[in-house]
Amino acid sequence: MITAGIVAGGTGSRMGADIPKQFLELRGKPVIIHTAEVFLKHSKVDKVIIGVHPEWTGYMQELNEKYLNSAAVITSGGADRNDTIVNIIECAKRNGASDNDIMLTHDAVRPFVTERMISDSIAAMDDCIICTTAIPATDTIVVSEDGETAVDFPLRRTMFCVQTPQTFRIGKFMEMLSKIPLEERANITDACSLFHRNGIKVRLIKGDSANIKLTYPSDMK
Ligand code: CTP
Repeated sequence: MITAGIVAGGTGSRMGADIPKQFLELRGKPVIIHTAEVFLKHSKVDKVIIGVHPEWTGYMQELNEKYLNSAAVITSGGADRNDTIVNIIECAKRNGASDNDIMLTHDAVRPFVTERMISDSIAAMDDCIICTTAIPATDTIVVSEDGETAVDFPLRRTMFCVQTPQTFRIGKFMEMLSKIPLEERANITDACSLFHRNGIKVRLIKGDSANIKLTYPSDMK
């Protein structure tokens, strides 16, 4: 069984809108609906689960009925992104998934994900433990602890920007999370850094510069 876990537990503070950015309209439909539709249409994805901020689950259920014929399963998001993934995994298990089953996790606010990225991510799971879509960095990336002074200038050709989907087997995610002390969890914001922190190689899948994460008002244009 292959599940798509769409993380939509955030409030979109940087977007500064009245509602979380995943509910903003883009070409006549909420962003989250565009995103969910790509996964629902994919022939290899059996179930789409959306983890929404607890205050918005009722609204998401209404959208699910209105636009998706209730095809997605809605669950509550968590306090941070990885907690939202945990809630989605628990929901997937209630819906028949087992530890060895694959889950693609995807940001609700990346509506330009493609069928090809989903297919490539699923295929990569034949011989890797975790994979993520990524694109080569076009800007030079520098390291700065304080945001005022750059302390390292890594070679640009070795720099990549991580996108989603990020894909793994659900039992493995829970195993990785259980090994991280609670006080360190805040620094580990996504599945890839979680697996990397446990010494697991992360496979890169070709992403796309169009697969942007809607973050600021200008991104909506
Ligand atoms: N996310 C989540 N659960 C959280 C926090 C974030 O599922 N507790 C999701 C967001 O809904 C989004 C994705 O993780 O789809 C990427 O996070 P980000 O772009 O940072 O979203 P927000 O946290 O909503 O935005 P901001 O940081 O501007 O508040």
